[in-house]
Amino acid sequence: MYDEVSLTVLVDDMPSVEGVATAHGLSILLRLRSGTTTREILFDGGPSARILRWNLEALGEKLAPDVVVGSLMHYHHLGALARLGLLKRALLPPPPLSIRRRGFLLRSVPGVPGVRLLLALNPWPEQALLVESRLGEVLVVGCSVHGLYETFGRAISQLGAPFAVIGGLGLSSRDFVNLSFLRALARAGTRLLLPLHSTAWEARRLVLEKYNKFPLDFEVPGVGCQVELR
Ligand SMILES: [Fe+2]
Repeated sequence: MYDEVSLTVLVDDMPSVEGVATAHGLSILLRLRSGTTTREILFDGGPSARILRWNLEALGEKLAPDVVVGSLMHYHHLGALARLGLLKRALLPPPPLSIRRRGFLLRSVPGVPGVRLLLALNPWPEQALLVESRLGEVLVVGCSVHGLYETFGRAISQLGAPFAVIGGLGLSSRDFVNLSFLRALARAGTRLLLPLHSTAWEARRLVLEKYNKFPLDFEVPGVGCQVELR
C-alpha cells in the first residue's frame, strides 16, 4: 500500500491548463511513494512523441519511468512509446482477436508491489492498472474501448468498487448504460471519478458534477491536471 499516489495527465484529448498540446489519446504518469521509495509508472504515451515531449516540457516533468504499461494495442495509446523506444519494455495486452474466452485476469507487476494489471478479456483486450493507495484502490483505465461497463464492468463488480476510477471511460453524456454504472459505483463507495480521453466534454462535466466526490483543483480534467491521493 502506497503512502502517496500522484497522477499527472501528460496527453489527453482536452487541455486542463494553458500551454499544453492535445491529441486523441492518453498518457498518465503515476508516482507511487512508500516511505522514502518512489516508483514511477508511465501508463500509455499517446499517439505522438512530439506532443508527449512538448507537454513534459510545458509541465516541467521529466520521464524516467521504472515501468511502462500500455492499455490497448492501438497507436493513439502506444504511438509515442514506439517512437521513444519504450515499447520494447512495456507491459502490453494481447493483440485484438487473440482471446477466445470472456472474463478478466489479474497479474502482478514485477518489482512494483501493490500494483496489479487488470486484463479485460474481450475481442479487443485492454488492460488497466490497480494501485493500492492509503485511501483505497485506484483503477486507471486507458480507453474502455467497449465502454467502461462492457470492458471492465465484470471485473469491477467482482472485485468491488474501487476508491478511484481514472482515465478513458468510453462515455458520452447520453450513454445510459455507462452513466448508470458510474452512478452505481458512486453509491458503492467510489469517491474519485476522473474522466479523460474517450469521454466526451459534456460527459466529463456531468461525471464531475454528479458522481465525483473527491475535491479537484481544475474545472475540466485533461492534459496538465494532477491528482494526489494520500
Ligand atoms: Fe483510446
